Amino acid sequence: MTTAEPAGMADTDPVIAGEHRLHRALGPMSLIMIGIGEIIGAGIFVIAGTAAAQHAGPAMLVSFAIAGISCLFAGLCYAEFASLIPESGSSYTYAYATMGRFMAWFIGWNMVLEYLVSASTVAVGWSGYFVSLLQSLGLSFPRAFASAPIAGVGLTELHFTGAVLYLPAIALVLGLNVFLLIGVRESAGFNNVLVAIKTVIIVLLILFGLPFVTRTHLTPFIPANSGEWGHFGVSGILAASGMIFFAFIGFESVSVAAQEAQNPRRDIPVGILGSLGICTLLYMLVGLVLVGITDWRGLDVPDPMAFAIGQVGALHWLVLPVDAAALAGLATVTFVSLYGQSRVFYSMARDGFLPPLFARVHPRFKTPFGGTLLTGMVAIILAAIFPLDILADLVSIGTLVAFIAVCAGVMILRVTAPHVRRPFRTPWVWLVAPLGVLSCGLMMLSLSGATWLRLVLWSAIGLAIYFAYGRHRAPAWKWRVA
Ligand code: ALA
Repeated sequence: MTTAEPAGMADTDPVIAGEHRLHRALGPMSLIMIGIGEIIGAGIFVIAGTAAAQHAGPAMLVSFAIAGISCLFAGLCYAEFASLIPESGSSYTYAYATMGRFMAWFIGWNMVLEYLVSASTVAVGWSGYFVSLLQSLGLSFPRAFASAPIAGVGLTELHFTGAVLYLPAIALVLGLNVFLLIGVRESAGFNNVLVAIKTVIIVLLILFGLPFVTRTHLTPFIPANSGEWGHFGVSGILAASGMIFFAFIGFESVSVAAQEAQNPRRDIPVGILGSLGICTLLYMLVGLVLVGITDWRGLDVPDPMAFAIGQVGALHWLVLPVDAAALAGLATVTFVSLYGQSRVFYSMARDGFLPPLFARVHPRFKTPFGGTLLTGMVAIILAAIFPLDILADLVSIGTLVAFIAVCAGVMILRVTAPHVRRPFRTPWVWLVAPLGVLSCGLMMLSLSGATWLRLVLWSAIGLAIYFAYGRHRAPAWKWRVA
């Protein structure tokens, strides 16, 4: 029988034995919770409202379906890889196995956008919710610490706001880092509590909100195009699906936990597809409540979900719980992003792409404390200084690069190693994987020129580091798939 064993993966390997070994503490439920923890956040609580109001109206539900199906294509490819290569590192590791050192670095470098920048972005979103919640409770927060000191999206628009630091964002990232350092079991337990809170409140919102959905609010289902691409009509649905993609990001983060899973070959695919399936169902239903209980034109506000409920007298009691769910949701996204980044750094350092400090595991807590501390420090700096819009654009493009690599990688490995044992096989792979590449590619094309420019700049910095450091230290091929 042929197997796929990454060279140097056995526990006897000196690289991961002893002080470098992580703790296998996660079962299928915790893995699904990690996925849900990373998925449900700013996308559904903030971006869905903007997508409806600016681009698609009630047809935002179709956009949700399009983004969800595209993610399902990628999710099925991730699940095959996860069952085949049960090691942390996610798309970075899969790229190494199929395309070699250079592509591994390229994908790993772009995953910094997917995880580290995402952690900062969502921490900034969380802070906005936190400050406005305090204000709605009649409590004030010092202005100097209640927003980012820099604002403006384009380079020419950058300006200082007068604020000193975004204090809640710093406090959130610091607090989450403490959990991450203490241990994976404690981190997963903390994540489970917050995920349970946000999921229960979303289910309540669906159960109590659905009876108030009216046909009037859903008609016309597809508002006429305004004459401009992306402003309602069919093009509006497509533009909204590009935005809503952000809401689905996160299912793939389950695969970074492979070395902390009890039975990774079976449970990581369960975690990926389980969390994606649950969230897609919740999103469709909560999306229906969002556009069905109020006029979608009013949803272009920072807290559209709470706003929509506030429009229905009988649902007022849900406004505060929904705010709490948003805070819990955004906190778990930040948390799992920080977790994911530290594990990707861990894998990259073990392979020689990064200094060994990133792979250092704490002897008592069994967590990669070097990478966790460094990730936390950079995330704090980004979150303390930059506004959400500068950071958010980067997250989607970095994630889409990784998704495309994984869909392509699954096809490559089916050709180069067709007989290898795959506990999970992507069904109809020659249809699903190309559709994954195509749909993610189209979503990348729908992103702005400025975002592409940032991707190019980011990649150029990455290339410089690769040629100065990683190329001389990491093996050309780390894996033996035969
Ligand atoms: N899916 C995550 C969110 O919506 C990134 O916040």
